[in-house]
Amino acid sequence: MCIYGCTMVSLARILLFATYCVIVNSTAASRVLELSDRFLDIHKEGQWLIMMYAPWCAHCKRLEPIWAHVAQYLHATSIRVGRIDCTRFTSVAHSFKIKGYPTILFLSGNHHFVYNGDRTRDEIVKFAMRLSGPPVQEITKSTSFNTLKKDKDLYFLYVGEKSGMLWDVYHNIAATFQPHAFFYQSHPVVVDKHAPIEKTPTLLVYKENVHYNFTDYKITDRKKLNDTLYKWVNAERFSTFPKVTRGNINQLFMTNKNLVLAVLEENQLEEVPPNMLEFKDMVESVIKMKRQKYHDDFQFGWIANPDLVNSIAMMVVPLPSLIVINSTTNHHYIPEDEPEKLTPHVIELFLEQIQHESVPKYGGNSIIVRIYRSWFEVRFALASMWQGNPILTLVLFGLPAGFLSLICYNIWCPDIFDADEEEEGKYKQFIFKYNIT
Ligand SMILES: *[C@@H]1O[C@H](CO)[C@@H](O)[C@H](O)[C@H]1NC(C)=O
Ligand SMILES: *[C@@H]1O[C@H](CO)[C@@H](O)[C@H](O)[C@H]1NC(C)=O
Ligand SMILES: *[C@@H]1O[C@H](CO)[C@@H](O)[C@H](O)[C@H]1NC(C)=O
Repeated sequence: MCIYGCTMVSLARILLFATYCVIVNSTAASRVLELSDRFLDIHKEGQWLIMMYAPWCAHCKRLEPIWAHVAQYLHATSIRVGRIDCTRFTSVAHSFKIKGYPTILFLSGNHHFVYNGDRTRDEIVKFAMRLSGPPVQEITKSTSFNTLKKDKDLYFLYVGEKSGMLWDVYHNIAATFQPHAFFYQSHPVVVDKHAPIEKTPTLLVYKENVHYNFTDYKITDRKKLNDTLYKWVNAERFSTFPKVTRGNINQLFMTNKNLVLAVLEENQLEEVPPNMLEFKDMVESVIKMKRQKYHDDFQFGWIANPDLVNSIAMMVVPLPSLIVINSTTNHHYIPEDEPEKLTPHVIELFLEQIQHESVPKYGGNSIIVRIYRSWFEVRFALASMWQGNPILTLVLFGLPAGFLSLICYNIWCPDIFDADEEEEGKYKQFIFKYNIT
């Protein structure tokens, strides 16, 4: 029965994909280069943004239209956008050590970078644009800042001569974070009224119309300066109120700030319902009023992935709601008031209490909490499986050859519940990382 079912499923997949290919190829994929194993001979020439895919993978199919847009968008640049079917050209997959599909790679000479962020057109394009130039790009015209501020909600700017220790260290760190942020260099006359420069060198980060100083520039010990600047760049490279996803939450945990998350739910079209939108705006207004006050200790964000939060909080959180996570210790805080009663003022008090450690904290990362978290996840997964298909669940666990059926369930699962096979993988990876940090 299992074998029969599985074959039917794969047949259906193949048919679906065949239909899909016809549609895509005839419309949008035109600017995407379909590459073969001959790519191995030419990949060091110029710059490439490549999607390694497998025809049967659901996530690759979902990425397809986005990829076509990316290719369209980058058409005017020197970056060539292509894709390679790794099931046909296994030597390519082997050569680039591809472990999952889709994998997005940026290749430039001998360097290659794997993309780990959110798979949206804008984010992928930004990733490629950052990597296509030198780690630090020079700004020579004052008017460039207008364009820059319009196009980029966040960038780092070094003002001063390209020499000295701060410059050296900045340049090295820019190279490390090149896939994640834009780094520039300019001179006081060019910067002019675009940023308050009192002396050089100065290092700033521009975020949504505000400049923040790197204040520890006086450190004279090279190693100490490197460590301090590295931490600063890592903590500052997120916008004030980003969308938090499975793709970037691990990086947010490296800011060592308290993460203040508005927890919401999106529909299939990635739209947030009005009542939740109101809540999200309310949380955002808290930072907008007191940016400077929260800047050092808190990183705000919103998350439309309640499962992820449930797993951190080890309970089913109401929607919408607020959770604060200390990214160093992984403890979390939940306001006592019901979400409807939360106002900017109440949140402000709550955050103050967290700073003074006068509210109870939960969770953390002790072994007991980790065991409990795993138990919660299993229970939660079973409960959702039961809700999705009670009969299947009964059959699965009623069968004597339970383990066999579990294997089948895993194979079936994506088709029956339309679950995200690969996202689940990422999720596990997140939990794993979360546990060991
Ligand atoms: C940067 O810090 C200096 C003092 O160290 C201050 O005078 C200056 O206004 C600050 N610049 C910005 C953009 O905050
Ligand atoms: C700078 O600091 C970071 C983080 O502490 C470290 O990973 C990196 O190797 C350092 N770089 C240099 C050149 O010392
Ligand atoms: C996280 O918790 C630790 C231990 O309680 C504390 O020292 C640290 O300051 C907290 N982090 C933030 C950003 O408040």
